[in-house]
Amino acid sequence: MDEKVTVDGLTFVPYITRDEIAAQVKRVADELRNDIKGKNPLFLCVLNGAFMFAADLIREVGINDAHINFVKYTSYEGTSSTGKVKEIMGLTEDIEGMDVVIVEDIVDTGLTASMMINDLKKRNPRSIRFVTLLHKPESSKTGFKPDYVAFTIPPKFIIGYGLDLDGKVRNLKDIYVIDEQD
Ligand code: IMP
Repeated sequence: MDEKVTVDGLTFVPYITRDEIAAQVKRVADELRNDIKGKNPLFLCVLNGAFMFAADLIREVGINDAHINFVKYTSYEGTSSTGKVKEIMGLTEDIEGMDVVIVEDIVDTGLTASMMINDLKKRNPRSIRFVTLLHKPESSKTGFKPDYVAFTIPPKFIIGYGLDLDGKVRNLKDIYVIDEQD
């Protein structure tokens, strides 16, 4: 793990290692597999940030009949939420009667999650579960609570393992937090 990462003039320090991520991905995958036993889930990966988490989680859950699809929303500019959620790429697949598992990178204000769930409910799925890699409960503006959380964290800006700063550093294998000494 690199000591520090600098991007766009901001410094980030190590926060969650790849081994800690792998252990929590396994724990969440075990819980989810147990809860959706006998069902045929549709995993909905929320682009872009959740692509790496979704790839690891879905492989760990290991249900060969599961379907995988993608949706895309944006709300962030730089290191803060704009408060407005935009759907960039919607779902074309019919989800009526399906057991949907939304896979998100991070729940911050909860606006994206609430909007997405409201939207999906109109399409009559049998159930909706919400999995997130990270949850910042102190930033909530909606009271939204994810069903499965790998890590609960304070309201600090983080990068890596799919999470970006203006589109960069999604490639990092570990998670870094903004250096408050900066
Ligand atoms: P929400 O709608 O405010 O809950 O924000 C959700 C989206 O904001 C996430 O899917 C991320 O794309 C982005 N986001 C929130 N916090 C962070 C962060 O600390 N680092 C990078 N992206 C973040």
